[in-house]
Amino acid sequence: MIQLAAEIIRRGGLVAFPTETVYGLGADACNAMAVARIFEVKRRPSIDPIIVHVAEPGTEKRYGQFPPAAAALIGRFWPGPLTLVVPRTDRIPPIVTAGLDTVGIRMPDHAAALGLIRAAGGAIAAPSANVFGYVSPTEPAHVAEQLSGRIDLILDGGRCRVGVESTVLSLAGGIPRILRAGGITQEMIENVIGPVAWANGERIRPEAPGQLARHYATRTPLEILCANDVRAQPHAGEQVGLLTLVAPAHPDRYAAVEVLSESGSLREAAANLFAALYRLDRMHLDRLVAYPLVEHGLGIAIMDRLRRCAQADTG
Ligand code: TXA
Ligand code: MG
Repeated sequence: MIQLAAEIIRRGGLVAFPTETVYGLGADACNAMAVARIFEVKRRPSIDPIIVHVAEPGTEKRYGQFPPAAAALIGRFWPGPLTLVVPRTDRIPPIVTAGLDTVGIRMPDHAAALGLIRAAGGAIAAPSANVFGYVSPTEPAHVAEQLSGRIDLILDGGRCRVGVESTVLSLAGGIPRILRAGGITQEMIENVIGPVAWANGERIRPEAPGQLARHYATRTPLEILCANDVRAQPHAGEQVGLLTLVAPAHPDRYAAVEVLSESGSLREAAANLFAALYRLDRMHLDRLVAYPLVEHGLGIAIMDRLRRCAQADTG
């Protein structure tokens, strides 16, 4: 199956493939026409740069110019959920980076993904395999629901282990900055290279996605609650779905309850987050409510996704 998938990519096709974070929608990173189809199929704004995925240590240097600090991060976290943004080389067509002179590159920690990237020629450009703005897919069925019939193949690798996307870290100048919270925490990065900053508030691009206020969104509106929040109470006849880290006190009040981790593990919660949102959204409830999680470690990435999902649609 990997050989077939690689053949499709070499010929300019689109393949959804598993990574340790979420499913990606892949095209040959050096084929501008194929990458253009990704934007079409996802209905993704053309200002939104796409991550380039590599498999062989050292090949990243063909596509980006890595500063000295990168070596320690790559040695520690690749393959894994860390995307490094660095100045790009000419091998990457401008459409991949949405015209930016930087490129995001990562090496996924997933055997099928690595096999596919190698067999397909060494670099696959891939955003998450969802329609733009909707919840990212962590199972093949999520991809099929959204993109079936519009892409050439879905490579089935079961469920994604990490469940939230890679951390995006800019090494493109000045102090390293986290552009998106993800599978590798700030603390893990700082243990290797010292202090990093957050790029919140400062926009790389006016609407660099993942940074868009409303993103990762369910169709059913979702609210984040405070402790003892009255909004947690369904009105008479109202169908409310609850998303919570651990088992709630009154599960019977809700039409559906998704517990992210019985034991309160943030890692397990991250792995379950998007699948839980898909299940709740498929039920066509009146609204969804979520209890906030502690914001340390992976809780930062989880709360980032929930807040963007909860953001009122401003059109
Ligand atoms: O875990 C992941 O990163 C997944 C899997 C498939 O690898 N991919 C993913 O891609 O989440 P996507 O396109 O959904 O999100 C990529 C994020 C976007 O927020 C984009 O703005 C940022 O990375 N990004 C990519 N290249 C960039 C660049 N050159 N400068 C700034 N941000 C960049
Ligand atoms: Mg995405």
